[in-house]
Amino acid sequence: MTTIESVGTGVSFALTDEQRSLRELAREFAAKEIRPKAAEYDEHQTHPADLVAKAHGLGLMNVHVPESLGGLGLSTFEGILVGEELNWGCSGIGTSIGANGLGAGPVIIAGSEEQRATWLPPLLEEPLLCSFGLSEPEAGSDVVKLKTTAQRRGDEYVLNGSKTFITNAGHAAWTVIFAKTDPDKGHKGISAFVVPMDTPGVELEKHLDKMGQRSTDTSAFALTDVVVPAANRIGEEGEGFKIAMQTLDFTRPGTAAGAVGVAQAAFEYAVEYAKERVTFDLPIAMHQGVNFMIADMATEIEAARLLCWQAAWLHDRGERATLQSSFAKRFSADTAMKVTTDAVQVFGGYGYMKEYPVEKLMRDAKLFQIYEGTSQIQRLVIAKEIFLPRNG
Ligand code: CAA
Repeated sequence: MTTIESVGTGVSFALTDEQRSLRELAREFAAKEIRPKAAEYDEHQTHPADLVAKAHGLGLMNVHVPESLGGLGLSTFEGILVGEELNWGCSGIGTSIGANGLGAGPVIIAGSEEQRATWLPPLLEEPLLCSFGLSEPEAGSDVVKLKTTAQRRGDEYVLNGSKTFITNAGHAAWTVIFAKTDPDKGHKGISAFVVPMDTPGVELEKHLDKMGQRSTDTSAFALTDVVVPAANRIGEEGEGFKIAMQTLDFTRPGTAAGAVGVAQAAFEYAVEYAKERVTFDLPIAMHQGVNFMIADMATEIEAARLLCWQAAWLHDRGERATLQSSFAKRFSADTAMKVTTDAVQVFGGYGYMKEYPVEKLMRDAKLFQIYEGTSQIQRLVIAKEIFLPRNG
């Protein structure tokens, strides 16, 4: 098992000047551009195309596209610094901006040079979105049970099936679709394809109405006799499952950092309120029932952040970080849920009202325990890594 000890010391928690500036840029954007629109976009489920375009202009999107293709080529660690801040602003809007990391992940991780040169530079030229087409109505956690098929026909594949819960699919230029090329081969029968969303046969079915993160588009769509060139297949036939897992290993620390951003926002609101609100002639911050909750929030947020940093750091060293990514995702998501729930408690009756920001944060936090693998799936991955450690 790779642990922080096994890869050596030399750990530093100090950010470089560039990393500090990047984080400040993201925080300023979140404070000045995202926060003022967060409540309204949440209420109306507004796709934040304007903020996606602004983030794109500032270089806060597609941060992992390699420099050789004109991108910033930022490290996983730098990506999560940005992700935490954008989600501190609003995780609905932050997810809309950050989800290209997941959509483009398979191309960055497993695409050929030609595929990378085809699909990635357009994302830099304009604020195009891409998405990750893994989940299906009857296969979310159990990926191997997906039913979408891709049948080879000469130099093409014909795809049929349906996808659901796909972030940004309703506005995406292309989606990486995971489909069965050989339904009898279990995980070795799954392959990955880049499918432009304007290909005939791709039909958006519905925009899904969510509890939280409501400004992020989450859509379902059907694929009926969708023809794509064989050149759109990423990796070899049968490598799709591993490509999906490697992508999730890479994106889960960033998603976890988003949860930390939401928790941090709830914590800050709770601290301010606790200083102002007076009961029994004292600010409620002076009551141990409240300040112990705040102390636990601070501790757990810090622990979650450090797990995110560790997972990203391992990735950046080229280590397989499946275990640490799931540590970070599980703990950060559960921390965000607990911290936002406690923040509502600190606000009391006001916290339950939409007029105050913590109500939205509690709704938003819930999704972190579900998407990119539920907290239970993270535990399953952690248990597998403990009992059935894999190499490479
Ligand atoms: N890296 C490389 N290879 C891996 C791997 C990893 N992280 N994880 C597994 N593999 C390999 C294994 O080594 C094994 O290979 P061999 O057969 O060659 O030994 C193979 O893949 C099968 O692995 P498992 O036996 O562990 O597979 P499983 O069927 O038991 O499932 C699972 C594992 C971890 C539960 C997986 O199904 C999973 O991650 N499920 C959750 C999926 C998920 O996160 N969905 C969210 C979708 S994305 C989203 O939410 C975003 C959005 O747009 C909303």
